[in-house]
Amino acid sequence: MVALDGPSGTGKTTVARRLAATLGAGYLDTGAMYRLVTLAVLRAGIDPADTAAVATLARNVELSIGTDPERPYARLAGQDVAEAIRTEPVNVAVSPVSAVPEVREVLVAGQRRIIEHVLGTVGGIVVDGRDIGTVVAPDAPLKVFLTASPEVRAARRNAQDTAAGRESTAAEALASVDRRDRLDSSRAASPMRPAEDAVLFDTSELTVEQVIVALSELASRRGLLG
Ligand code: DC
Repeated sequence: MVALDGPSGTGKTTVARRLAATLGAGYLDTGAMYRLVTLAVLRAGIDPADTAAVATLARNVELSIGTDPERPYARLAGQDVAEAIRTEPVNVAVSPVSAVPEVREVLVAGQRRIIEHVLGTVGGIVVDGRDIGTVVAPDAPLKVFLTASPEVRAARRNAQDTAAGRESTAAEALASVDRRDRLDSSRAASPMRPAEDAVLFDTSELTVEQVIVALSELASRRGLLG
């Protein structure tokens, strides 16, 4: 198992998926799970600041997530919402929703079940998140924490927005990336931080390809090639 943590704009999700495909492992995007709960909150008309209502919804929501790196999916009550969970209202509400302890409790339990199942069937998994090495799987044999300068991360976010047909300036992207990081790192419940034994990896000057090559080598040295 590889725990891949770090903020957005580090290339983490692309790297995690492609690394999983390279290793012949499964893939779990835990951020998508927080996004699914957030979308359900918004669709139910619940205020993301109403922690009691958010907690109740999280306990009852029916979400499912694919673990094949070639064909990831995200479903809410059986409906494909892969695009809806990447929209701006979800980007804005996901940090307060993911700061609610009950939401984390429910999702971390689900993540551990999925990891165990994939390890038992496929034999390996790359898990993408913020707290995988610290909370979800502190025993993971390889923990990587990806970083990149705020400017690089904002430029990547901006490029993603443009590719998705959303207008955003570099300044807006930087502000959005910055705001979410601050919230994710300062929350009381499992703040985003590298595990003590995580390998810190700065992707600012590297292409996705170079990061994947470096991480595959690292995984191979640890005997994790599937
Ligand atoms: O990786 P992402 O941008 O899709 O994550 C969306 C949000 O979910 C992010 O702002 C913080 C939260 N998150 C979390 O709290 N813990 C995780 N393991 C993954 C994501």
